[in-house]
Order: sequence, then structure tokens, then C-alpha cells
Amino acid sequence: MKIFESSSALQSWRRELTGRKIGFVPTMGALHEGHASLLERARSECDVVVLSIFVNPTQFNQTSDFEKYPKSWEADLKIAQEQMVDAIFFPKDQSEIYPDGFQYQITEKQLSKTLCGEFRPGHFDGVLTVVMKLFQLVKPTRAYFGEKDFQQLALIEGMVKAFFLDVLIIPCPTIRETSGLALSSRNQRLNADDKALAPKLHQIIMQFEDIRDASRELDEAGFKVEYLVDQQIAGKSRRLVAAWLGEVRLIDNVAH
Ligand code: PAJ
Repeated sequence: MKIFESSSALQSWRRELTGRKIGFVPTMGALHEGHASLLERARSECDVVVLSIFVNPTQFNQTSDFEKYPKSWEADLKIAQEQMVDAIFFPKDQSEIYPDGFQYQITEKQLSKTLCGEFRPGHFDGVLTVVMKLFQLVKPTRAYFGEKDFQQLALIEGMVKAFFLDVLIIPCPTIRETSGLALSSRNQRLNADDKALAPKLHQIIMQFEDIRDASRELDEAGFKVEYLVDQQIAGKSRRLVAAWLGEVRLIDNVAH
């Protein structure tokens, strides 16, 4: 397994891979079975699998959230090996990705301002910009994204269309604990009490037909709901939620 810490080294390697089907899984590390499922799918469909691990500063709107983002390089490496990844892009410095100091950006003006974007201003500009840059470096044939971040997935699909990017986006289902809790790197930051409560997020949004009832139940269970909506997104009917448990913000969504 190759590990590239610089963009130029990754690009040189990529230039030699002509005519191969390249599968790409971009992540921020702290890998879990959700990420592993994306890698497994990529492995089954592509000749070469590239994983990127980069905690992207421009998509965090709170410095503390960025600083506290979990890091687990050794464990990540193990998962990458188990999933038979061919190359990991692990930029050693932000300047590998932002030689321009984030002066050039991708901005979306509609969907990115709603739902998570309403509460995290600038978040999706950071996501779209980093994904565009990663696509330019990796030049994937296919890129794999989780439905866990449904709005992110929809925005990336929109960007690919808007800029005629020659990459196929593959949506992958949300991997959950048996309790129903969607796996997330941020779950590690829940304290014991909140960890026990967290599965209720999924249970409640599944249980109640009326979102007003679901919202009230979440409130009573101890969540601070940011939004809970039923809406069409990228042509699909989804129920989407974001809620805080203590210091941790959880998101989830289901077909509805
Ligand atoms: P990250 O949160 O590390 O997630 C990387 C990919 O794993 C995303 O496509 C996400 O939707 C997927 N994923 C996370 N949890 C999942 C789960 N429980 N089941 C299935 N897939 C899951 O999303 C990001 O990083 C960043 O915004 C990124 C796209 C890398 C840009 O910085």
C-alpha cells in the first residue's frame, strides 16, 4: 500500500495509471465500518482504490470542533490494509491542498444554504472545494459517498453535473449499529449517558409519522433539535434531522 503525503507525489503516481478504473473514497479519518463499507464497494468495482484522509479545516465553522476531531492513524491504516486499499493520500500539511490559501472556492447558492448549511455557514463551500481539489488530484473514475451525509452527497452530485466532471458518484447506504445509531466519527465524543441516548435519534424519526410528534419526543428525550424536516432532496423523499446531544452534533436521514 502506497502512502502519499504530498500532492505532487500522488499526481506523479496517478499519471502512470492510464486506462485503469480508479475508485476513490475521500474521508477525514477516524475510520469506522461506514468508511470500510465504501472502501469494500470501491474494491469490488474498481482496479485501483485510493483513500484520502484529510481533516479539512475549511469545512469546520467552529475551531474547537476542528481541533477535537478524532485522529487515529494507526487504526485507520489497519482498516485500509484490511480493505486492500492501493494508495492513501494523507497530506502532511494544509498547503498541499490549499496552495492558494483558500482564495479559490466552489460555492453553491441554494441547497447549501439550507438544512446543515443554515446552521453551519460556509461548511458546504469548504466541502465542495476540497472534494473538487481531491478529484483533480486523484482523477477517479468512480467516487464513493455515504447517504449518511445526504445533503453533502446531493451537493457533490450537483457539482459533478454543473462542472461536467468525468466521475461517477456512487451513493452508499448508511451503516448503523444494531441499536440503529448511524456510525459517525463524532460518536466517540459522546459521554456514556449520551451514548446510551443517541440511538433514540434514529428510533424516534422512524417511529413517528408526524414530524411535530417526533420533534417533541426528541426534545423530551434530551436532544436539542436543530432541524427535522420531510423534503425532496436530489429527487428523493427523505426525512432529515440534526440534533445536539451535549457538545456533540448528530445528523441522520431516512427514506420517507
Ligand atoms: P467523513 O465524515 O470522514 O466521511 C467520509 C465518507 O464516509 C462520506 O462519504 C460519508 O458520508 C461516509 N460515511 C460516514 N459515516 C457513514 C456511515 N455510517 N455509513 C455510510 N457511510 C458513511 O464526509 C466527509 O468525511 C468529508 O466531508 C469529506 C467528503 C471527506 C470532505 O472533507
